[in-house]
Amino acid sequence: MPDHARIPLVIDTDTAADDCFALLVGLLDPRADLRAITMVAGNVGFDQQVHNALLTIGLSGRLGEVPVHLGAREPLEREWISAAEVHGDGVGGLRRPDNGRDADDEPAVDALVRLARVHRGSLTIVAIGPLTNIALAVQRDPEFAANVGRIVIMGGSINGRGNITAAAEYNIYVDPEAADEVFRAGFADIVVVPWDPTTLHDAAFDRAAIARIASVDTVLSRFFVRANQVTFDFDVAAGLAGSTHPDSLSALVALDPTIVTRSSRYRVDVETVSELTRGATVFDWKPGVETNATGVEAVDGNAFLDYMIDLLGRTPTGQIAPVALTN
Ligand code: BDR
Ligand code: CA
Repeated sequence: MPDHARIPLVIDTDTAADDCFALLVGLLDPRADLRAITMVAGNVGFDQQVHNALLTIGLSGRLGEVPVHLGAREPLEREWISAAEVHGDGVGGLRRPDNGRDADDEPAVDALVRLARVHRGSLTIVAIGPLTNIALAVQRDPEFAANVGRIVIMGGSINGRGNITAAAEYNIYVDPEAADEVFRAGFADIVVVPWDPTTLHDAAFDRAAIARIASVDTVLSRFFVRANQVTFDFDVAAGLAGSTHPDSLSALVALDPTIVTRSSRYRVDVETVSELTRGATVFDWKPGVETNATGVEAVDGNAFLDYMIDLLGRTPTGQIAPVALTN
């Protein structure tokens, strides 16, 4: 694909489990021009997340090509809440080989503001963690929201069930003030990939799906199965159909909107006052409402799984894998 046709992309991530697979989408799909990975407090300890992102870059064969920028280590106003019980350490206990590569010196918010200026109107941000870094970039640069072409947000539920509480999905619950600010910031094109209904119905991989991924038997597919195991067990114990993959789906939605089979325009607002419904997302559908986002209501789940199997079937040149994955 010619360079000018590729989508300039930043992935803002709390890297553990499905975030790793979303990074693989950005790193390996030829339609993506992944300019940066920005780290935000979320799933597991911040330093573990940075390790996980660098490990994933090594597995993609692109170490040193895509910078990792360190961002907020805690939400805007609230205490950080771990999701380690859902993901373990997020990489199945793997340790990346010592290769001297580290995070970039430029802070995440600076990188976001700079890249939005450089790629004015065409930068796509895939935000798959709490929205702290994005809100801080809005605060830093009054033109940031206008400069961003599109932001795909994994978060919330379309007036449905949450996961960390009955009412709220984790990414929005952890930093509701940041989410509130982002939805009010005036981004021209916000696309939301929600927990309910889309993740629950179309992005849960059951045992048969995981077996298909395992049968590919590459370093990347072995990584997937291992990094995903704790999430799979957690999700199945919670009564879901299998492990959930909203982050990798969000990355694919950014590159290939045809995966979306149903969506609608909504006015999205975030609950920041109540404790009972903290972080709940209200998707207002009423006629005449001033909309601020597109809610993805359904995707082609079979095509998504096929895509992931194809992606994980690759053996990138320059791949640096922990020994445990190569035997
Ligand atoms: C979201 O929270 C995290 O645990 C996942 O990575 C995903 O971004 C799902 O609620
Ligand atoms: Ca995430």
